[in-house]
Amino acid sequence: MDKKRHRWRDEEDDALLAGRRKQEKERKKKAKLEKKGKGSNSEHATASANSGVTKSYLEEKVAEIDLTSSGLCRFKAPEVRSCRSVENYERLNHIEEGAYGVVFRGRDMSTGDIVALKKLKVDKDQHGFPITSLREIEALMALDHPNIVNLKEIVIGGALDQIYIVMEFVEHDLKSLMTEMREPFLQSEVKTLLYQLLSATAHMHDNWIIHRDLKTSNLLMNNKGMIKVADFGLARYFSDPAAPMTPLVVTLWYRAPELLLGTKQYSTEVDMWSIGCIFGELLTNKPLIEGSSEINQIKKIFELLGYPDDSSWPGFRSLPNAKSINIPKDRQPKTSLRSKFPYMTSAGVDLLLRLLQFDPKKRITAQEALEHSYFKEDPMPKAPQAFPSFPSKAYEERKRKAPSPRAPVAAHGFEVSDSKLLGFTDDEDDDKPILASPTSGLFKDNGQLGAGFQLRLG
Ligand SMILES: Nc1ncnc2c1ncn2[C@@H]1O[C@H](COP(=O)(O)OP(=O)(O)O)[C@@H](O)[C@H]1O
Ligand SMILES: [Mg+2]
Repeated sequence: MDKKRHRWRDEEDDALLAGRRKQEKERKKKAKLEKKGKGSNSEHATASANSGVTKSYLEEKVAEIDLTSSGLCRFKAPEVRSCRSVENYERLNHIEEGAYGVVFRGRDMSTGDIVALKKLKVDKDQHGFPITSLREIEALMALDHPNIVNLKEIVIGGALDQIYIVMEFVEHDLKSLMTEMREPFLQSEVKTLLYQLLSATAHMHDNWIIHRDLKTSNLLMNNKGMIKVADFGLARYFSDPAAPMTPLVVTLWYRAPELLLGTKQYSTEVDMWSIGCIFGELLTNKPLIEGSSEINQIKKIFELLGYPDDSSWPGFRSLPNAKSINIPKDRQPKTSLRSKFPYMTSAGVDLLLRLLQFDPKKRITAQEALEHSYFKEDPMPKAPQAFPSFPSKAYEERKRKAPSPRAPVAAHGFEVSDSKLLGFTDDEDDDKPILASPTSGLFKDNGQLGAGFQLRLG
């Protein structure tokens, strides 16, 4: 990413404004001198001078308007108009109720388009309209990418607290789809999905947005083999250098070690860690690091990737929660990642390890990952249109899924004490090695979820 770029494009715009101010000053000075020279008692002269000023002022205003519409304005100035009513949509079925919104499938009664409506939960008594909902709308408005869910409009219900985000309807979320799959995705399919996720993430990061809750239930997938990143409820703009932000973001299993260790200065790298966890999950059909608490999550990360040391992650010992963790000084940093994916090529393991670097500074960026040799070697990524379609739960073609883990609540504006961050029990989970086989695949004729199922789009 170009470090000089900034969301508000300060440097370019400041220069432009300074230039215009200077011109204006010179013009006024000239007009004043002319006026003095011609004498202030001449009615005609005064009128013409005034008309001159008025004309150029108007010209200036027109130029300003042009400047705004041509995109040179300091900020995006969207057209202001009132929201339509939710009554324009016919409610078809309930899709999912999360902690921060209820999602329905609906039909636009004027066009017949099938859409998803997310009703935002507004806590009237305590917090009013949540900042996170504003951020979700802001992020969705700012991002336009084929692998990011498309925002159609915002509509309102009868009461002030009924606000709905209208999005394109997408048949599946990856979590729910994978729960139904008997075997993991093929390597060629994993590549396509990962590549799409990386390009959506590169687009977000280029636009100064961190998602902060990338996980399989927030990745939608349509019946054309396309991933759509959704749920920007925890997303926010970042700056460079990073401003302090809450570390209580990202669902536990996908949370980067620097967040678990309580850092407040973090950036896009937290999304890249989550993508590493998603990559592992796509390969095995099982979450890569399933901790039961923050401390257990860290423990499992270390079991999988070895212990960090001062050379692999300089400065980690000074992070706020590092003191609460007993990292043996004499333990050699050693990773067991390779043995977990015995069928993966070296390039695949290399990409996974680069995504799961302890030190955020060493973690691969989305742009770099897109150019990784993993995507250029056999098996090549499968063409999205070659993906078969599956019965959709959201379309009520099959049962709803088992619940998936929730994002942390603090970043949504509710208090969670710091002591809770690492204070849970240290449960042992079943942690058997999982093998990702290149020959396994979903698309064999396996009865329940047979290949080639065609969705009835009404
Ligand atoms: N555009 C959509 N099309 C179809 N289903 C969707 C869409 N957006 C969300 N969903 C479903 O609703 C679930 C919850 O939506 P999400 O935006 O993640 O809300 P929450 O903040 O409650 O997690 C998703 O996991 C997915 O199953
Ligand atoms: Mg979600």
